[in-house]
Amino acid sequence: MHKNRIVLGIETSCDETSVSIVKEKTKFEQEILSNIVNSQVKIHEKSGGVIPEMAARSHSTVIDKLIITAVNKANIKLNEIDAVAATAGPGLLGGLIVGVVAAKTLASVLNKPFIAINHLEGHALSAKLEHKIKYPYLLLLVSGGHTEFTIINGFNDYHRIGTTLDDALGEAFDKSARVLGFKYPGGPEIEKHAKKGDKNKYKFPKPIISQKNCHFSFSGLKTAVAHTVASNKNINAKFKNDIAASFQKTICDILEIKTKRAIFEFKNKYPNKKTTIVVAGGVAANQEIKKIFKNMGKESNYDVFFPSLYLCTDNAAMIAYAGLERLRQKKINSLKFAPKPRWPLDKDAAFLKGKRIDAK
Ligand code: KG4
Ligand code: ZN
Repeated sequence: MHKNRIVLGIETSCDETSVSIVKEKTKFEQEILSNIVNSQVKIHEKSGGVIPEMAARSHSTVIDKLIITAVNKANIKLNEIDAVAATAGPGLLGGLIVGVVAAKTLASVLNKPFIAINHLEGHALSAKLEHKIKYPYLLLLVSGGHTEFTIINGFNDYHRIGTTLDDALGEAFDKSARVLGFKYPGGPEIEKHAKKGDKNKYKFPKPIISQKNCHFSFSGLKTAVAHTVASNKNINAKFKNDIAASFQKTICDILEIKTKRAIFEFKNKYPNKKTTIVVAGGVAANQEIKKIFKNMGKESNYDVFFPSLYLCTDNAAMIAYAGLERLRQKKINSLKFAPKPRWPLDKDAAFLKGKRIDAK
């Protein structure tokens, strides 16, 4: 019996610098010994969005301290680490370089393997850190940079069945929040104001909703919000709350319709398996969105899982865990592995951003 493996993970793909240490307990269970996150929200708040150069600078300023803090908090010695994993894409290149170089340096000094992790694989597996979820399952990933349905057939076997043709869902929340004058990130602000608003006040478009596929498009919805705001002379608190509530309701309707379509495809592929849905990414923190999935689960007897909030947003625990799974399968990388700003999880998935999809 080998000793329980310990993996250090690093996440720097966007605006969170995070370092985590995950230790295996059994073949199916693992423990997060530490998960340190340094958010850059304060840095990007003024501009209302992430500025790549500033993000990279901030990652490089804090990464070494975060590694030391994560090791101390985990109460382990550096030489107990069995592998060093880092997000190597997709994401902002400057940030990826900081994390990957730190991971490679640590791996070489310790003479342990370096493992390059796809950030989307981290999100895809994140719910398994807390729940015993069996393959296959349907993943809906909704974050600031990504919106996709992927069938997780098994470890390292991912089939994307739907994606966004333009904005990511979190981006649609952030951009709509910005025209309403809310602070960044906009998702939590929209949710907060929506609680006080009338969700039926404004009818916003649901782009490509009647197409029989699992793709999304949010840019028309975002533009409709911007037009409604621009054409209104009295932008008071009630108006903003009503817009936030109507926008959020439109999103919930879109997610419900498209998820039913994705489940249809999942069931076609796995007619004899119980449908399991995992909703991950920062937008999955939204309580109204959660309700939609919980209701669908109850009505149709699906298993629905949401990772805890700290595992939904960007974090290194999910990267260390993906690293642990890869280490178990001896899927390690050479130190020559270069970060990839664009790196689809399903390598056969077509790049659809900006493309028109004809209705089926
Ligand atoms: O996964 P994440 O932390 O980072 C990325 O990989 O992008 O997701 C951040 C996104 C932001 O767009 C933020 O506005 C959105 O998640 N978000 C929310 C909520 N909390 C965070 N969107 C809607 N409702 C929320 N409560
Ligand atoms: Zn993410």
